[in-house]
Amino acid sequence: MVPSLEALKAELERFGRANDERHAERALRMLNITRDTGEFLAVLVRALQARRILEIGTSNGYSTLWLAEATRDLDGSVTTVELSEAKVQLARETFARSGLASHIRLLHEEAGRVLDRTESEDCDLVFLDSERSEYPGWWPQIRRVLRPGGLLVVDNATSHPGQMAPFMDLVRTDPAFTTCLATVGNGEFMAVKALLESGRNPVGS
Ligand SMILES: C[S@@+](CC[C@H](N)C(=O)[O-])C[C@H]1O[C@@H](n2cnc3c(N)ncnc32)[C@H](O)[C@@H]1O
Repeated sequence: MVPSLEALKAELERFGRANDERHAERALRMLNITRDTGEFLAVLVRALQARRILEIGTSNGYSTLWLAEATRDLDGSVTTVELSEAKVQLARETFARSGLASHIRLLHEEAGRVLDRTESEDCDLVFLDSERSEYPGWWPQIRRVLRPGGLLVVDNATSHPGQMAPFMDLVRTDPAFTTCLATVGNGEFMAVKALLESGRNPVGS
């Protein structure tokens, strides 16, 4: 039987908690976002009317469900990228059971390679929840693929401040971006791209 989306989310929350209590090794943990972060992402997708979403770090697909559910009503879709074979397999099963598969494109790839070939200004929203040491190196491509007015959201800004600091400094000093830290869940660092590359908005807008 296909579960309701709500039942599937609740099942993944229980599975993620139990799994992560059992395993200390990062590669074996699901490391899902918190439920309130999911709710927050859903509000952002709807407010921004985000139809082209890129998620980096799928795990077993919990956060993707929140993004895909919100963008489904806008006829949008989520491209989500995951490097681990085992997690891609879990995510595939999640999406097949979710009723949202037609709004999700799952890529089993290294995120840097996906960013390299993504067209400029192709994304309304980028959700970054992956290997934090990679973020500074990915920044030139992330800023390129965001459309003017597009939004970057990055998880773990308050749970791992030391690891996030180099990346947050980079984004905060970029004149084309306005940033803030939302203390939801594990801390969501947010950066919106200006409508003009100068960092200003057009006169009259
Ligand atoms: C924190 S988990 C993602 C959790 C997921 N967003 C959720 O809330 O359900 C981070 C994931 O990023 C993946 N990852 C790490 N480095 C990656 C890379 N270079 N490219 C793609 N995925 C990567 C890991 O395998 C891991 O599953």
